[in-house]
Amino acid sequence: MKLYRRLIVPFGLLLVFGLAGCNSNETVTNVGKLEFQQALKIPELLEPTIESDGTKHFSLTMEPGTTEFFPGEITDTWGINGSYLGPTIRVSRGDKVSFDVVNKLGETSTLHWHGMMLPPAMDGGPHQMIEAGETWSPHWTIDQPSATTWYHPHLHGKTAQHVYRGLAGMFIIDDEDSKKLPSNYGVDDIPLIVQDKLFTSDGQLSEDDDTPYGMLGDEILVNGTYDPFLKVTASQVRFRLLNGSNARAYNFGFTDGRSFQLVANDAGLLNEPVTLERFMLSPGERAEIVVAFEPEEETILRSYSSGAGITNGEFDLLKIVADSELTGSSPISKQLSSIEPIEVPADAKVRQFKLTMENEINDKLMDMYRIDEVVPAGTKEIWEIHNFGSEHNFHIHDAAFRVLDINDKEPPEYARGRKDTVFIPHGASVRIAVEFGNYTDLNYPLMYHCHLLKHEDEGMMGQFLLVEPGTESQAPTELRDDGVEHPHNGH
Ligand code: C2O
Ligand code: CU
Ligand code: CU
Repeated sequence: MKLYRRLIVPFGLLLVFGLAGCNSNETVTNVGKLEFQQALKIPELLEPTIESDGTKHFSLTMEPGTTEFFPGEITDTWGINGSYLGPTIRVSRGDKVSFDVVNKLGETSTLHWHGMMLPPAMDGGPHQMIEAGETWSPHWTIDQPSATTWYHPHLHGKTAQHVYRGLAGMFIIDDEDSKKLPSNYGVDDIPLIVQDKLFTSDGQLSEDDDTPYGMLGDEILVNGTYDPFLKVTASQVRFRLLNGSNARAYNFGFTDGRSFQLVANDAGLLNEPVTLERFMLSPGERAEIVVAFEPEEETILRSYSSGAGITNGEFDLLKIVADSELTGSSPISKQLSSIEPIEVPADAKVRQFKLTMENEINDKLMDMYRIDEVVPAGTKEIWEIHNFGSEHNFHIHDAAFRVLDINDKEPPEYARGRKDTVFIPHGASVRIAVEFGNYTDLNYPLMYHCHLLKHEDEGMMGQFLLVEPGTESQAPTELRDDGVEHPHNGH
C-alpha cells in the first residue's frame, strides 16, 4: 500500500489511463462539463442587533427548505436563515457576541464554531445539543487574531448528514492587520465555500457515502452555486476559501497557471504573504489568498488531482471574469501580521495520537462520557499524530497550532501559518505545536478529531478538558450522564 501510494504521485497520469475501469483510481472530473452560467451566490452578511452593553446579537435559524441548484429543478436542502448554507457573520477582535440558534429541523442538532477560542460550554460541540424546536443562546468575547472561521453542526453521529444537507456558514474575524487587506465583502473580499455533492437522477442530494472516506461527490457547489462564474471589479481580490466538504480534499490553482499570494491559514494571517501556484485544503481547512487581475482577464479556479482517495479528482470550481475597468491597485503589504508564530517551551508536554486502520484514535472510539486528555488551559504542547490508517486530517477545538514537521520535514509552504486543522497523509507522522484556549471547564470537554465527517461520526474523535494549570490530576476521567447539556438546564 505504501509503495503503491508513492507511485501514484509521479505517475498519476499513467495510472489514469492504465487503470481506467478500476474505480478507486480513476480520476473523477467535471472538467469540460461546466458552462459557467450561474452568478456565484455570495452569502449575505448577517446584521446583528446591538444590545445595551454593546454586545452584537445574531439570530440563526436552522431549517429545511428547497434550493434550485439546476435551473428548473427543485432540490430538498437544509440551511440557516435560508434554504442552503448560512449567512456570513463578521465581527472584530474585542467584540462581545451573543446568538440565538433556533432549531427548526424537526430533529436534534448542534452548531459548532470551528476555529473559535471560547468557553467550552459555548463551543457547540456534541455536548451542546439543541433539541427540535429549542433555542440555544451562547455568548462570548471575540479574543483571537483575525481569521476566516466557520460554523456547522456537530451532533455526534449526524455531523456528516447535517453538514452535507447544507448547514454551514462562514464566520470572519477582523483585526487591524486584516483590514489592510481587501475587505469589501462581496466586492474584493469573496467567500468561497467549496463542496462536492452527489446528485440523484432527479436532482436530489444523494446521501450514498459508501466509500472508505464517506461522501465523495462528482459535482461541485461553490457557495451553493452550481456551474458558477464571478465577475470581479477590483484589481486585487481576496478570496477566503473554505473546504466545506465531507471528505474531499482540493488542490487549488488557476488554469492559466497564474500565481497568487497566500495571506492566511485557518487560524490567522501569515507574517508575510507567500507566492504560490497551488495549495491544498482538506475538509474543514481554510485559506485566504489575494489574486491580482488585469482588465478583461478570464481564468478558472480548478482543483488538480494529487493522488488517490480524497485527493483524487480534477474539478473546475469557478470561472472568474475581470471587468473592463478595475478599481484599486495598491499592492498588498509585505508585512501582514506581527503575531509571533506559535513556539513551545523546551519542556513542553508531548502527547501521542495514533490513527489506526480501524479509524480509531489511540485504539479508542469516541465516548461522550470518557475524558481522554486533560490539558492545562492557556498552555502550549506538542501533539504528535501518527497515521497508521488511510488518509485523515486532525482538528482541535479551542486551539491554534503550527505544523512543526511532517515525517521530519518542514510542512509545505502553504501550511506554515496558524492552523486548527491539518491533513495527515497515509503513513505520515505530523508534529504540531498547539496553543490552547484560556477558559477552563470541568463539565464540558472539547474535541479533537478527524474532520472527514464520516470518520468523525463513526467515532474518530476524542475529548479533552481544559483545567486550571496544576489541577490536572484532580480532573474527572468520566462525565456523568447529566454532563450532556440540554438547552434548559444550562446557564
Ligand atoms: Cu469543524 Cu469539531 O469541527
Ligand atoms: Cu471545530
Ligand atoms: Cu479520517
